[in-house]
Amino acid sequence: MGISTSLSDLVRTSPPVLIDVLKGKTAATTPLWLMRQAGRYLPEYRALREKSGGFMDMCLTPEIAAEITLQPLRRFPLDAAILFSDILMVPYGLGQAVRFEEGRGPILEAIENVADIDRLSPAGFQERIAPVMTAIRQVREKLPAHAALLGFAGAPWTVASYMLEGGTSRDFEKAKSWAYGDSASFGRIIDLLVNVTGDYLMAQIDAGVDGVQIFDSWAGALAAAQLTRWGLTPTAEIIRRIKARHPQIPVIVFPRGAGVSYGAYASDSGCDALSLDQSLPLDWAAETLQPRKVVQGNLDPLLLVQGGAAMRSETERILAKFGKGRFVFNLGHGILQITPPDHVAELCDIVHGWQGPS
Ligand code: CP3
Repeated sequence: MGISTSLSDLVRTSPPVLIDVLKGKTAATTPLWLMRQAGRYLPEYRALREKSGGFMDMCLTPEIAAEITLQPLRRFPLDAAILFSDILMVPYGLGQAVRFEEGRGPILEAIENVADIDRLSPAGFQERIAPVMTAIRQVREKLPAHAALLGFAGAPWTVASYMLEGGTSRDFEKAKSWAYGDSASFGRIIDLLVNVTGDYLMAQIDAGVDGVQIFDSWAGALAAAQLTRWGLTPTAEIIRRIKARHPQIPVIVFPRGAGVSYGAYASDSGCDALSLDQSLPLDWAAETLQPRKVVQGNLDPLLLVQGGAAMRSETERILAKFGKGRFVFNLGHGILQITPPDHVAELCDIVHGWQGPS
């Protein structure tokens, strides 16, 4: 598949393969994209990062966000661009201060009690995140026709965990104590996030994305019953709202670490596709999930770092298990910073060149 960006290539005559497959059609080649495909493993990203202000400023400057979104598509024949942004745009849009520190990751202003929740301001949300919509429109103008544009947001539980922990966490002590100890006020944060995240994703759709992914990166930190309440139910409500207005837009859900609860996401979330983390056994996923939903995944990101025979054999095992149709190739989690870009090119060749089990 060519990745030329000549003018004719920009004129879309049929939907990108990825969108067809997400809607359950079969395709001659398996589409692929990679979570976190834009980012620090690319020298051209690091060069822009050095020239720019902070990470949040990059996300909020449409020209820069659009450029970074397109960078991986210039190098690799990927089937989608995913908007360069962050799940922490939602707390930012609610008026919570968010910054990124080198080597420490995100740092958010503390939310400690109900009064702090009440200080968040959904009223200013659309205006604060307006640059994200401008970035989407700019990407749309330059995107090669074969590629889909994906928008995204974090699921309420994962975003709430960052908001309450003040950053990345190992045990989620604050967020879980709040959820277990005072479920009524925890429910208020979750409800607020359902509202703004639903509106945010619909604004992305109105601005021009072809599909969306909801990242619940910390789904696996919750006990199963709590995952139903704080993970699955709010995510299903967001999807219900999207589908009521945009039934044709595919929604992918990534409840990372949910284990057998992926089955409940297949039956009850209303999504079109499930993004599988690398811990899921392929046989189980092929038998239990794929008959009901399109599946996406699930190469261990470390195998992309490794490359060579190890990467090839696991990639072929995944391809053979999920076959053609109802399957989108991806990683089991985001690409790692130490990934050699050449390995991404090789992975694209393997996936697009795959002709079925030999
Ligand atoms: O996939 C893409 O290419 C689009 C961009 C994207 C980013 N973040 C850019 C980013 C996406 C889809 C995300 C999602 C995101 N952000 C998630 C869910 C996916 C996952 O990985 O589980 C989460 C949990 C976050 C929150 C976040 N953002 C953390 C914890 C960090 C720090 C850790 C890290 O990887 O640096 C970020 C920063 C971040 N988001 C970077 C990028 C390119 C690195 C920023 C830098 O240049 O230093």
